[in-house]
Amino acid sequence: MKELVQQLTAAYGPSGRETEVADLIEKLLKGKVDSFHRDALGNLICEKKGTDKKGKRIMFSAHMDQIGMVVTHIEKEGYLRISGVGGLNVSNLRMRRVKFQNGVQGVMVEQPLKPGETSSLRTCYIDIGAKTAAEAEKLVQVGDMAVYAEPGFDMGEHRLASPAMDDRSACALLVSLMQDLPACADTVIAVFSTQEEVGYRGSTTAAFSVAPDEGIALDVTLCGDQPEDRKLAIDLGEGPAIKIMDARSISNPALVDRLFAAAKRAKVACQREVLPYGGTDAAAMQLSRGGTPVCTVSIPCRNVHSACEIVDLRDIEGAKKVLLAYLMG
Ligand code: CO
Ligand code: ZN
Repeated sequence: MKELVQQLTAAYGPSGRETEVADLIEKLLKGKVDSFHRDALGNLICEKKGTDKKGKRIMFSAHMDQIGMVVTHIEKEGYLRISGVGGLNVSNLRMRRVKFQNGVQGVMVEQPLKPGETSSLRTCYIDIGAKTAAEAEKLVQVGDMAVYAEPGFDMGEHRLASPAMDDRSACALLVSLMQDLPACADTVIAVFSTQEEVGYRGSTTAAFSVAPDEGIALDVTLCGDQPEDRKLAIDLGEGPAIKIMDARSISNPALVDRLFAAAKRAKVACQREVLPYGGTDAAAMQLSRGGTPVCTVSIPCRNVHSACEIVDLRDIEGAKKVLLAYLMG
């Protein structure tokens, strides 16, 4: 699992630029599923047919995109002004190394604030070492997207940090699940979705074309176990979380119960998640067609949407066991 997380978090893939991640996942799942399909939004839809003709169609969705920044214009001194692709937080951006798809790297700087001015993306710029706009334009164009360039690293025995744990850690979970899933009664459709960070756009179209009987999103969730933290009942390393509700979806209670029952069979302790904000691909799946029962299985993650998102490998392994127990009855 560790290698999968490392491989997937190293790939470049802000929203709308997920091809490198999709190519990698398709390679990892070759021979493990019955079909691959890429739709117009770039979703990678992997189907493994069930043995029971009357079985359900169960859709899993893990998003491939990560938050990023897009160049809006280039100053005459060669500095790049940016706007967010997904939920960027300025306090996480300062003096961070960033990289573009073509390998160009830079530093995200916040300029000195004028009296009364507050920090925002407008007070930040990327320095790529260019002296003039013309020099900068040889390296980067308006519309190019950057992501955090922080390399991933180990933290102790079980934990890993990287900028793209949201949501590549769940992509690793879904890849590993599909690699090891024995023949099962239900048809399983693993969707690696695009553009989640800008509003679940990929999973919206994927859910329509897949037309599942139930949908399970796989995503990270916030922890409440850091100093002066918000009061959330989620601790890193205490097991995967089964979402009861967030700001964008209320999980189907029967599906939640079945997932907890599977966790019990798998002897994996799961946490109960209520997140007063945020949303996942479950928000899109539930509203597809005539409606779909949904739930999210979450990987606890510290510092979500920063250059150093931290997950615990035991939570990911635990989630895989729960999902295997769920699918194998
Ligand atoms: Co996110
Ligand atoms: Zn996410």
